[in-house]
Amino acid sequence: MIIGCSASQDLAAKVAYELNEELCYVENKKFPDGERYLRVDGKIDDEVTIIQSTCYPQDENLIELLFLIKNLKDLGAKKVKVVVPYMAYARQEKRFKNGETISAQIVASLIQSAGADEFISINLHEECVLNFFDIPAKNLSAMPAIAEYIAGVTDEKPIILAPDKGAYPFAQEIAEILDCDCTYLSKVRLGPDKVETRIVDVRCDGAEGESTVNIDAVKEKRVFIIDDIIATGGTIVNAIKLLQANGAKSVDVCCVHPILVNGAVARIYAAGAGSIIATNTISSDTTRVSLAKTIANALK
Ligand code: R5P
Repeated sequence: MIIGCSASQDLAAKVAYELNEELCYVENKKFPDGERYLRVDGKIDDEVTIIQSTCYPQDENLIELLFLIKNLKDLGAKKVKVVVPYMAYARQEKRFKNGETISAQIVASLIQSAGADEFISINLHEECVLNFFDIPAKNLSAMPAIAEYIAGVTDEKPIILAPDKGAYPFAQEIAEILDCDCTYLSKVRLGPDKVETRIVDVRCDGAEGESTVNIDAVKEKRVFIIDDIIATGGTIVNAIKLLQANGAKSVDVCCVHPILVNGAVARIYAAGAGSIIATNTISSDTTRVSLAKTIANALK
């Protein structure tokens, strides 16, 4: 039995289809004062999977998820698997400054204490967030699905570029699948919506990976940028500008989680991107890649 909460209705329906499982209906509304009302309709299976991204509005989507986990357990479900394709607050997995809240740890603990028996997410911003769970917890990768999409839209060998070193393992994963080169840039975050990006000599930087090439390799090439998240688009816009300055033939932009705030889509297209290719962890106009099969395979 699969249940899709408000933020992941389409994805849950597709996962249910892939698994040939029943998609359970939940009556979900708000009282006039804004409080949430949830009612699960019908008989509850012993094992239920809830799918809910905790994207914007994060706190509301999280409350809905917590209510549902607890309710299903109270109604007799023996095992509740929780799939959170995009997990909000996963970027605060430690105290960067004294006194900060470790939000990812609190969210993990809330999901667990509501009664979740298993947790699955996709490309968590920090993989170590899994350590906050005592229940089985998995972090799936969207890269095989994104690589398949890229293979379908280009006949030539592209270059895969990570806009910062943190995203380089994603570029490596895609490049390995497509048997092409990959490289990365160096990024310093100056503020929530301000980043500075530089070219690095990757051979001197000592990055691991056999297919690493320097930025000059992008000349006359079709380049696909890959990042886990696009929020304001600042990271991507900087990367596009550097690629253009170094002679890339075209630049397309891929990401797993299209948060896309503050006019990010317009800024990225205005910078010259050919396309923005996102997955359906968050529903968006840029969604091109479905992760229903990735999730279904993990649930099998
Ligand atoms: C940060 O390390 C992430 O991987 C993304 O690069 C970041 O969240 C993107 O943010 P923005 O689109 O605001 O530059």
